[in-house]
Amino acid sequence: MTELLSTHGLVARYGDFQALYDVDVAIDEGEIIALIGANGAGKSTFLRAVMGLLPVKPDMVSLDGRPIGGTPTDQMVQKGVAIVPEGRRLFTGMSVNDNLRVAIDQVGSRGRKGGWTLERVQQLFPILVEKGRVPVQNLSGGQQQMVSIGRALLCQPRLLLCDEISLGLAPKVIREIYAVLPEIRAQGTSIVLVEQDVGLAKSASDRLYCMLEGRVTLSGRSNDVTREQISEAYFGGGHAVV
Ligand SMILES: Nc1ncnc2c1ncn2[C@@H]1O[C@H](COP(=O)(O)OP(=O)(O)O)[C@@H](O)[C@H]1O
Ligand SMILES: [Mg+2]
Repeated sequence: MTELLSTHGLVARYGDFQALYDVDVAIDEGEIIALIGANGAGKSTFLRAVMGLLPVKPDMVSLDGRPIGGTPTDQMVQKGVAIVPEGRRLFTGMSVNDNLRVAIDQVGSRGRKGGWTLERVQQLFPILVEKGRVPVQNLSGGQQQMVSIGRALLCQPRLLLCDEISLGLAPKVIREIYAVLPEIRAQGTSIVLVEQDVGLAKSASDRLYCMLEGRVTLSGRSNDVTREQISEAYFGGGHAVV
């Protein structure tokens, strides 16, 4: 397998507070990895650091084996890394289609050429056809999440970073959203799933990493890691196995 993106001793700070300690994560082309961990473990910070939203040293992040740490976010998008951010961050007051067009315009003529079009996103999430002219604030949470994923896909990513896309959604909607991940991968996009639902993360990924207090405490093939290993890595030593 060819490595797409990796981090090497990645550290990140908010002022005096160190939020990541020596994080080593690697994602191969075509892989789906899950990043699990309790609230505050550093999962979103990891994604932000990779996306150039926090200052990091160049050699702490590499893409295709080349150092790219600290590259500004818009350039990361041009290089093929897109994020579905925590809380979705859609443009309120704009319709579904206009939110999606922003991504098409952003990547634009100097952008990467890829297979994702408005029509392909609508095939993935058919409800977005009928909702095309509806302001995004009038959509359900699940529909908003679909727009957020669609917007990221229209940046033609080679790597899609998803920050808790299941949060606050009903189980049926979560299943609907997770069902499209294999299709996204089939299009040639690798995926990082940040997820608090361990069962969901495990079943949807090839490999997983668990974080605790800014450190990676477990990594392995999702089918191989045991509940006991996850429990220990998730909560730290000394906690009862759940
Ligand atoms: N903007 C910020 N300023 C200061 N501390 C922050 C900020 N964002 C997150 N943190 C802290 O960094 C740690 C990791 O947060 P975060 O990456 O959001 O965790 P997770 O996504 O795993 O829930 C937490 O202790 C959190 O309080
Ligand atoms: Mg988070």
